[in-house]
Amino acid sequence: MGKHIGILTAGGDSPGLNAAIRAIGKAVDSYPDMNVIGFRDGFRGMMENRTMRLDRDMLSGILTVGGTILGTSRDKPHSMPVGGTVMDMTDVIVANYERHHLDVLVCLGGGGTQKNAYHLMKHGINVVTLPKTIDNDVAMTDITFGFDTALGIATEAIDRLHSTAHSHHRIIVVETMGHRSGWLALGAGISGGADVILIPEIPYDTERVAEAIRQRWRSGKHFSIVAVAEGAVSREYADALAAAQAEKKRAKESGDKAAHKAAKAKIAELEAQHSGNTLRLAQRLEELTGLESRLTILGHLQRGGTPSAADRLLATRLGTAAVHFINEGIYGIMVGVYGEEMRPVPLEKVAGNLKTVPPDHPWVDAARRVGTCMGN
Ligand code: F6P
Repeated sequence: MGKHIGILTAGGDSPGLNAAIRAIGKAVDSYPDMNVIGFRDGFRGMMENRTMRLDRDMLSGILTVGGTILGTSRDKPHSMPVGGTVMDMTDVIVANYERHHLDVLVCLGGGGTQKNAYHLMKHGINVVTLPKTIDNDVAMTDITFGFDTALGIATEAIDRLHSTAHSHHRIIVVETMGHRSGWLALGAGISGGADVILIPEIPYDTERVAEAIRQRWRSGKHFSIVAVAEGAVSREYADALAAAQAEKKRAKESGDKAAHKAAKAKIAELEAQHSGNTLRLAQRLEELTGLESRLTILGHLQRGGTPSAADRLLATRLGTAAVHFINEGIYGIMVGVYGEEMRPVPLEKVAGNLKTVPPDHPWVDAARRVGTCMGN
């Protein structure tokens, strides 16, 4: 008997989503009686039963288009604002899954979506997920689609910042996205030849960064490009956060409610303090080096627009692989990329795990070997 597939895109959008939707929608035609229906705006649209037919006409011409034709949202099934109250809407989503007689729900998303899909799986829904995010931080896959496009955009930005930094003898600090991982800043920093690269996984010492810039000045290089991941933190900040997190864990284990509350408040305070960190870093580097500095935040530019060829290819391979696994009845998995292979990975190994940059990763080693200051 044919299979009924539901599909949604959730979390931040990412170049390649439409290529993946198209791949799933077209690949189902190779299997008898398989069909696909889209849900709009992620888990919220599924909760509200807002659907979109995904026939040939809808899929035509979207391969090269950025964003997602389905729309997306960051709403979680188990904690969704509804009429001014945050509610657990899991049962409504399960009911809509049944209403459409679905055999499987395909969720295209990053770390949060993997967790939400796993949650639905535990409530009886068959799920298959694809790893999507410009951050490249999904566990159990070599790569996520969207990353290559964002890497290209961030690299081009760094290329362009070189000439203006050079002309004005300035420090230009360029902030990339990446949430709590440094793949984007590291990849673009290396590809664009940044002089300093700061990532969350390697807390930085501001004085060392300043000294690297002064050293460049002494050697006749009167400008510097500093690529900073949005989640990058100083050594002092990282230590303070680690101490608060350790205290929270200790307090929880010992049942000390007051200490647990205080530790949680401390963590929230530290997280709030992080906002504006890259701007403060740029200002501090100006003070420490005596060189003028400017900040460029690349922001959502990195997520918008047409996907790169590599992302179209990857999304198409992932989408078609998902349909293959569905046909085989393999559910409760994310399709992971392992070199040339697309493998089904049990969702429990993915959900809640983040793929951060190992501080001894070959990319870090390569950056150091070409003389890049990694901030430590
Ligand atoms: O996860 C993708 C991402 O682009 C992160 O790099 C960034 O921190 C976040 O989304 C921004 O989210 P929003 O678009 O909701 O502000």
